[in-house]
Amino acid sequence: MDIKKIAKQMVAKGKGILAADESTGTMTKRLQSVNVESTSENRLNFRNTLFSSPKISDYISGVILFDETIRQKVSGKSISEILNERNILPGIKVDKGAKKLALSKDETITEGLDGLRERLKEYYELGARFAKWRAVYKISEKDNLPSKESIKANSHALGRYSALVQEANMVPIVEPELLMDGKHNINVCNDVTSMILEETFYQLANNNVDVEGIVLKPNMILNGSESNTKNNPSEVAKLTLNCLKKNVPSGVPGIAFLSGGQSEFEATMNLNEINKVNDSKFAFTFSYGRALQQSALKTWAKDLKDTKSVQHAFEERAKMNSLAAKGKWNKELEKAA
Ligand code: 13P
Repeated sequence: MDIKKIAKQMVAKGKGILAADESTGTMTKRLQSVNVESTSENRLNFRNTLFSSPKISDYISGVILFDETIRQKVSGKSISEILNERNILPGIKVDKGAKKLALSKDETITEGLDGLRERLKEYYELGARFAKWRAVYKISEKDNLPSKESIKANSHALGRYSALVQEANMVPIVEPELLMDGKHNINVCNDVTSMILEETFYQLANNNVDVEGIVLKPNMILNGSESNTKNNPSEVAKLTLNCLKKNVPSGVPGIAFLSGGQSEFEATMNLNEINKVNDSKFAFTFSYGRALQQSALKTWAKDLKDTKSVQHAFEERAKMNSLAAKGKWNKELEKAA
């Protein structure tokens, strides 16, 4: 399939992406937080329980997998086959994590370009049709972070990654994440996100990336999580929309937000608010990890065998976010659930 068609399918109206690509280290933390041992069997069981939820296809267009998961099988079927049967696109995280940027003040550079062409070929054969690479930035007003060097280096890596992914006939999810950690206010987040997006798209263009065949995965514009200021959803929506309209080329078919540590409820409410005021051509949807899995994980920890309740908890979040992706969610629907 043509990459532009895949990108459109990923952000189809009312559908979003499930980010289930936690590295083994991160997944271990998530499982330990609910007192479940992190074995490869438990990691697969939880994930496959979500993937085989009866109504998943109504709300989810694609799933981002981790290297371990794309190689696992359930009753002889690969995870890609299981997803394809449900009309869900399999995707794969291909970066090798954010490592310390040498001689920086605790900044990171995302690694994983060496050998990526060969790895992409293998992932394509394993069924992946899109990929993900996450650059990570944090704000420090004291140290004037993120530095220009870290923005340039990470954006350049995103450009090179995206070119390799398109060359392999897959869609790159371009994820420049500005963390919400810090005491800064929402306007600082707005200015820094703007700077990051500008450099990201400059580097995509330099690397000949066709923006009609990508999906952007940005952070929303929020107050720092230690600022003691509650986010006002209509302000979040207005600033996020304006920032993206200003910095994202109009050819980009869709924008799928990360949840970044927002609660499940906030991530849904803010996405809904953005769609309510959306006067752009972009499709705004979700590519959530924690904000789609938290309730399901807690439910699972109560009884590892109670598949139905876990699937119900997951489907409830997926449904709320699907409504939010159409601007049709409201608080009363949460209470009714
Ligand atoms: P969160 O929604 O939990 O931030 O995860 C999304 C993701 O894929 C981060 O790379």
